[in-house]
Amino acid sequence: MNVILMGPPGAGKGTQAEFIKAEYSVPHISTGDMFRDAVKNGTPMGKEAQKYMSEGKLVPDQVTIGIVEDRLAQDDCQLGFLLDGFPRTIIQAEALDGVMDKLGKKIDAAINISVPDSILIERMSGRVSCKECGKVYHLIFTPPAQSGKCDKCSGELIQRSDDNAETAANRLQVYIDQTSPLLDYYENKGLLKNVDGNRDSKSVGADIESILNGL
Ligand code: AP5
Ligand code: MG
Ligand code: ZN
Repeated sequence: MNVILMGPPGAGKGTQAEFIKAEYSVPHISTGDMFRDAVKNGTPMGKEAQKYMSEGKLVPDQVTIGIVEDRLAQDDCQLGFLLDGFPRTIIQAEALDGVMDKLGKKIDAAINISVPDSILIERMSGRVSCKECGKVYHLIFTPPAQSGKCDKCSGELIQRSDDNAETAANRLQVYIDQTSPLLDYYENKGLLKNVDGNRDSKSVGADIESILNGL
């Protein structure tokens, strides 16, 4: 299965991707995670990306398309993949179509997780993740057993630097302006599947599972 997970910031793409990759053994390709790794490692691409991420803006298309194209050509993507946070502009979506043509593949579904704006802000502001293993928590909805410590590895829990109120609001506006037009793009191709993300993670996951099982 070659699937795209779409949805505004904080909708639960990463949360649902964790369960999908375990259940269906497909690589989870998150451009946001790739950029955060590059920032952490201090690479030239990370330094460039950080300028945009810290303001909640999109990293330029040519940078983003390049890293996804390289990633999709790797061996572990040959039997399927799950894209999270890509594409985010019409230019990226058209580039992805070109890459798929070149690889002789097609996208099977674009699953859109929708959540009202007020809930998105609450989800972003309460999100923390483990500095060591990356496990994501929510301080109210899914808190760790011990405050500030990861349940899985005892690593330190930190807040993402772009989850502050101002940057989170910018990310939401960027989503509305630049990414939401993609819903029509995939609807017109007959690939869009909508999921109500304003429910507990398990119910959202069950809907996604039935979509994936029907592909
Ligand atoms: P990225 O990392 O992709 O961030 P995003 O799209 O803003 O999405 P998030 O990761 O914030 O949300 P999510 O949907 O994964 O939610 P999560 O599951 O964590 O991008 C970051 C930046 O990188 C961008 O701003 C841009 O600068 C750059 N970038 C990335 N891709 C790019 C591209 N293609 N082009 C250009 N630039 C790009 O959940 C959120 C919280 O809610 C968590 O605490 C979680 O525990 C909780 N939660 C999840 N589900 C539920 C539920 N059902 N009920 C209650 N709580 C829930
Ligand atoms: Mg995410
Ligand atoms: Zn951890």
